[in-house]
Amino acid sequence: MNIPSYQSKYRQMTEGSKLLYKKSTKIFPGGISHNIRYFQPYPFFVKKSKGKTLYDVDGNAFTDYWMGHWAQILGHASQPITKALSTQVRKGTLYGTVNEASVELGSLIQKVMPLAELLRFSSTGSEATMYAIRLARAKTGRRVIAKIIGGWHGFNTPLLQTVNYPFEYEEGPGLIQDEEQFIESIPFNDLDRSIKILESIKDDLAGIIVEPVLGGAGCIPPQEDYLTGLQEFARKTGSMYILDEIVTGFRLSLGGAVQYYRLDPDLFTLGKIVGGGMPIGVVCGKKEVMALADPVKRNSKQSCCAIGGGTFSANPMTMTAGMASLKYLIKNRRSVYRKINNLGNQTRQGLNKIFSEARIPVDVTGVGSLFCTHFLNSESERILDAADVGKSNRNMLIRYQVALMSNHRIFFLPLKMGAFSEAHSERDMNALFDSTRSIISSGILSS
Ligand SMILES: Cc1ncc(COP(=O)(O)O)c(C=O)c1O
Repeated sequence: MNIPSYQSKYRQMTEGSKLLYKKSTKIFPGGISHNIRYFQPYPFFVKKSKGKTLYDVDGNAFTDYWMGHWAQILGHASQPITKALSTQVRKGTLYGTVNEASVELGSLIQKVMPLAELLRFSSTGSEATMYAIRLARAKTGRRVIAKIIGGWHGFNTPLLQTVNYPFEYEEGPGLIQDEEQFIESIPFNDLDRSIKILESIKDDLAGIIVEPVLGGAGCIPPQEDYLTGLQEFARKTGSMYILDEIVTGFRLSLGGAVQYYRLDPDLFTLGKIVGGGMPIGVVCGKKEVMALADPVKRNSKQSCCAIGGGTFSANPMTMTAGMASLKYLIKNRRSVYRKINNLGNQTRQGLNKIFSEARIPVDVTGVGSLFCTHFLNSESERILDAADVGKSNRNMLIRYQVALMSNHRIFFLPLKMGAFSEAHSERDMNALFDSTRSIISSGILSS
């Protein structure tokens, strides 16, 4: 089989990574510690990062649009965070007790997100979403959670359903069917169909969990009224409205999607940016719901909702990094959000124009600083939900993204959306445009 030239170029420039990958496969299933980090022929291994750049073990420097699962909004190894962490590391990394830093980060979150009347820290976003649905069930005494088809809320067991196209199969062995019966999936951006499904389960509906912008499934913004329509339904039926803001929190705006789309969830989850590059998850919400997790008020008749937190929750390193990040964002909010959102808007417009001039049908979706190119075909002529993404030309997207890596040292995790950070500039955006034009004219994208 002929290996396309951009792939052989990738192999030539990543020989050290190839060796490390081989070694990795003997240690980790598939050679990786997060499924999406694998791509063909093998992922490059990173040695260090700074600003907008990832440096690999072979001496390549990539302009990064993956930005640590979109968490690194200030850029890699940013000065405020590195400085704060290097001081904290000498004072201790894990006290395993309550600490002042957690109070400070918690109150900063409350300051910019007033709906976080009470909150609980965990170490990952997966835990935070798991706790959110447990709280919804505790509050309502009902069992069913509605999620979006294609919605991603981490690896917690109950929500590992209808994640991957075509959404009809179980997400893998090890999940048992009994778990499925209390999850119902609804189509993103189709309010009528969603409400119809929700109506049929409303008596046992504990909550509706939704990413305001479908992230992992393809960077799809909500259509007008979709999110408020779900919210109204939840209110009307006494179920909890849960926004998963793990990607959108502090990204769409300082107040996240709640502020951007003027929403009023009962519960919401945060992660990624709020940890300043350190592991974190947060479940936040209205007092009357979050108070169910109060262990101090537990009595012999009524125990609290067990939402844990875990060994590493609220550890002082994460709290310190989160604080440095939020303080910077609060202080520089006008310039940061203006810059990254402008770059996102211009990039969506610019890429759409470049592909359209080349008569390659695409839809570059996204909102604010997030964007993703979808190659359209007769099965998928627009991108409104995760099924449209599944039907689009995914192979073409991989080709485009691997060609960006090998020929232009620009990194998107294949199939995933890109994010701008404070460390990117217009020059990076223009380099992405030039590289895209060059890939188009090289014929790599002709099917
Ligand atoms: C919307 C959303 N929710 C939850 C998660 C899970 O977070 P974590 O990977 O920290 O467990 C992710 C991770 O990408 C996410 O994008």
